[in-house]
Amino acid sequence: MHVSVIGTGYVGLVVGAGLAEMGNDVICADIDDAKIARLNAGEIPIYEPGLEPLVERNLGEGRLRFTTDLAHAVRESDIIFIAVGTPEGQDGSADLKNVLAVATTIGRHMNATKVVITKSTVPVGTAAMVRQAIQQATEHEVHICSNPEFLKEGAAVDDFMKPDRVVIGVDSEHAREMVEELYEPFVRTGNPIIVMDVASAEVTKYAANAMLATRISFMNVIARLCSAVGANVDQVRAGVGSDKRIGSSFLFPGVGYGGSCFPKDVKALVRTLEETGVDAGILNAVETINAAQKRLLVDAVTQRFGHDLTGRTFALWGLAFKPGTDDMREAPSLVIIDELLERGARVQAHDPVAMDAARRVLGDRILFTQTNYDAAHGADALLVATEWPPYRRPDLQRLQGLLAQPVIFDGRNIFDPEKMAALGFEYWSVGRPRVGPPGLEAQERTPERTPERTPERTPERTPEPTPEPTPERTPEPTRTEAEA
Ligand code: UDX
Repeated sequence: MHVSVIGTGYVGLVVGAGLAEMGNDVICADIDDAKIARLNAGEIPIYEPGLEPLVERNLGEGRLRFTTDLAHAVRESDIIFIAVGTPEGQDGSADLKNVLAVATTIGRHMNATKVVITKSTVPVGTAAMVRQAIQQATEHEVHICSNPEFLKEGAAVDDFMKPDRVVIGVDSEHAREMVEELYEPFVRTGNPIIVMDVASAEVTKYAANAMLATRISFMNVIARLCSAVGANVDQVRAGVGSDKRIGSSFLFPGVGYGGSCFPKDVKALVRTLEETGVDAGILNAVETINAAQKRLLVDAVTQRFGHDLTGRTFALWGLAFKPGTDDMREAPSLVIIDELLERGARVQAHDPVAMDAARRVLGDRILFTQTNYDAAHGADALLVATEWPPYRRPDLQRLQGLLAQPVIFDGRNIFDPEKMAALGFEYWSVGRPRVGPPGLEAQERTPERTPERTPERTPERTPEPTPEPTPERTPEPTRTEAEA
């Protein structure tokens, strides 16, 4: 089939390359000359596993072309995807100016009947606006389809080639036939193509992302409860997730969700709900909880080291909002870094992939280190913000030797608390008991006998979580409120 994809961001590139891989003739168009030149040279401007070989192969075999000539792309194709950005507007709503400008351009250059697919995440009602913009500029017949993407960054190619489901919202039999034909090769194992009306498809995208974000915020609240009552969120997650009605995915507590989708989409959905007079209640809570969650590790740090962190150095493992991507958008690491720097601390950070992207955002405000071990060198504690696989099984003895104090604040629960305690770490994680090496409790309870491991602790810096114990109280050193 002859397809064009307008917009060569994460989504457009994956869609274009994936469709070409299935034998279609695909033109990817973008107004950014420099980007198109790079793509034509086989250079991929983003980090997305598996995308580069896919682009290279299909470019080499002539099924995939990149151009800045939108008019040509429109004329040459029967199906046109709109995959341009929908940045967050000032009021939280999705900004549609790019989408509508592309719609007008499509209309101007239509030379026959076309199916136009909105792939960008757009609020309900946008497809109707796209139709109107196109029809105002052409006499040719246009069929509209809303085809939301469910691509996870870092796994986008796989998600596109082997989707759980394909959702298409159509307004005509012609659009249905064309789009079903396009997607049938991707669902040969029986995963469904779910056909619905256009508005329902638009709502489906937001509902799916908002549901996932809600699960995460929900678990983050449960994790806080676990910390408060001495429960272990890992065990709770296993108990809850094994209920078939609930399922076990997206129940990992952590330092909050980030990225280009959840934060923006939840806000945009709240805005749509407000506009339509429907109470956004639960989604407002999802956002508020997430914002608090991004500060979780710093709350624990201040509880441990005091609010003034002048002269302290912290190691940070992980900058990207999640593993498998270099995307820094809405990354919890940015909040953590801001809060630490504001309190006078220095930050030494490492990320296996996102270092360049992070440098562009952070400049020289923090030290970027060559390896994750370098980041730990001389630091008062290590903070883990992203669960990159290489961080999961480091040489813990080496790490201990590098840290000035063997203290870890783990925002992704990548280590086993018991093992960490046995190795002599003071280990804070999310929704699990805080543990320390044998004797930590006694050391913390007698600040006048400053433990050897924390020689620089001066009385005024005495960590707050070491109140004088009263005999009848459950010993606290194994859990604190700041752990969530
Ligand atoms: C998401 C959706 O998964 C995808 O379907 C949609 O089309 C775009 O948005 P993405 O933003 O790439 O994809 O990231 P995802 O893997 O879904 O993770 C989002 C965030 O949730 C990350 O910050 C991650 O760390 C966090 N998360 C995820 C948790 O905190 N706990 C979990 O259990 C799962």
